[in-house]
Amino acid sequence: MQKHHNPERRVLVTGGAGFIGSHTVDLLLEQGTSVLAVDNLATGHEANLETAKKSTDFRFECQDVAQADAFHQIVERFHPQAIIHLAALVSVQESIHNPALNFERNVLATQSVIDAAQKCDVRNVVFASSAAIYGDNPELPLRETSEKQPLSPYGGAKLASEALLMAAANTYHFTATANRYFNVYGPRQDPKSPYSGVLSIFLSRFLQGQTPTVFGDGQQTRDFISVQDVARMNVMAACSPLDGFHAFNVCTGSATSLLDILAVFREQFPDTHETVFKEARPGDIIHSLGAPEFAREKLGFSASVPLREGLTAYIESARTTTV
Ligand SMILES: NC(=O)c1ccc[n+]([C@@H]2O[C@H](COP(=O)([O-])OP(=O)(O)OC[C@H]3O[C@@H](n4cnc5c(N)ncnc54)[C@H](O)[C@@H]3O)[C@@H](O)[C@H]2O)c1
Repeated sequence: MQKHHNPERRVLVTGGAGFIGSHTVDLLLEQGTSVLAVDNLATGHEANLETAKKSTDFRFECQDVAQADAFHQIVERFHPQAIIHLAALVSVQESIHNPALNFERNVLATQSVIDAAQKCDVRNVVFASSAAIYGDNPELPLRETSEKQPLSPYGGAKLASEALLMAAANTYHFTATANRYFNVYGPRQDPKSPYSGVLSIFLSRFLQGQTPTVFGDGQQTRDFISVQDVARMNVMAACSPLDGFHAFNVCTGSATSLLDILAVFREQFPDTHETVFKEARPGDIIHSLGAPEFAREKLGFSASVPLREGLTAYIESARTTTV
């Protein structure tokens, strides 16, 4: 992508040391934007910011976003035009075991971002929402207007955050965008995270020469989207020309089964043992698929990385990096 150096444009990225955050930071820097990443390193890693740290347009602050006063001061000093808020407790399981921590990281932190944006006249806030707000709604493909039935405190907090943003955008007249990511995959996804996508878990197994375990018959499908596409949508939303609040599915609109995914892995790792199939886990969602049209219509966004290409690049990068 061509770089138009524009240090006057400043974007603050919370959760910038994380998987999606660090790719979003890299893309903003590629476009010549000044970037401040704020992250408490709860699940993120400074190593994810290795490329970013080479840029003079990049700064990093180790800070908990939920600590409203400290975060407000950071926003006041940097005075960004947009905040991309990705910091979160990302484990669905942890949100079930520790709902208070989920509330702090996934609701209070959003309110902290809203307060700082309002006080510091930040006109654009982008929020990392999730397909988890739809729960196991069987009416596929899921549209932005589909019924919301979150099945975990994590999904509930994402939906609550959307409501807070919608109200704030209407009250204080700024632009807020909730990007509802489906299954994101790509380099720097931490396979140790319990929330981590199935693709990163498969990849770490194959890299160790181990056999992946599939719960169920492998026919379950997901809408997998590359982290490059997700980062691009975050940046597009941060420049959104729309007023008020909008929520978008960030998905491809294509359903891929785990068996299809395994076939691609097998081509890359032909010597691995046969896959082990175990009984499906209760509560696992069988099919998930998003409708991508609204984001295309309103913002001109559509996913551009084909799964096979994205997956091959992901495997390649994991083979050549220690991060
Ligand atoms: N990966 C996916 O498939 C997916 C799907 C839907 C939604 N999301 C959402 O996207 C966002 C990014 O997720 P990710 O997959 O990159 O996970 P990640 O764990 O790599 O990134 C989250 C980052 O937020 C930081 N963080 C957490 N709480 C914080 C706080 N209070 N203050 C400052 N920093 C804090 C963590 O240290 C981490 O760097 C999250 O909001 C997540 O809920 C991800």
